[in-house]
Amino acid sequence: MDKKTIDRVIEKYQGNPQEILEMLLDIQEELRYLPKEALSCLAEKLNMPVAKLYRIAKFYEALSLKPMGDCQVHVCTGTACHVRGASRILDELGHQLGIKPGEVTPDQSFGLKTVNCVGACALGPVVVVNGEHHGDMAALKVNKLIKQYAGDHKQKKKKHA
Ligand code: FES
Repeated sequence: MDKKTIDRVIEKYQGNPQEILEMLLDIQEELRYLPKEALSCLAEKLNMPVAKLYRIAKFYEALSLKPMGDCQVHVCTGTACHVRGASRILDELGHQLGIKPGEVTPDQSFGLKTVNCVGACALGPVVVVNGEHHGDMAALKVNKLIKQYAGDHKQKKKKHA
């Protein structure tokens, strides 16, 4: 882990402990998750107990202590989406990606999670990929959705190569 990432984030927020959530989100965006070393380094530099950072990381669903996929697929399993077939969509995504909710594909291109209501019940069932909402989803649309984001993932990798 590059400690410069931590320094940059601390500098951006002027080491303000009130901005700890934003700091963690920025670190996660760069490193794709919150590695143990990053939390230890941040705690040391901010002079705060590392246990506090773990508590925050575990509390917020947006934060992850495990590596995440480049494309984060969140299937809403809230009541409105559930009654409209969210579980069939989740099964199909799991089947096509070859992973279960909470897992990441071996090439780390996709991560799959379930979430509760994302506030778009009228559009349900809803799948959110990298923050983009896809309403009126159906198991039959899953393949197209995966291909769309797999294409984006390849483009991004090319750019960073
Ligand atoms: S239950 Fe899925 S968006 Fe509300």
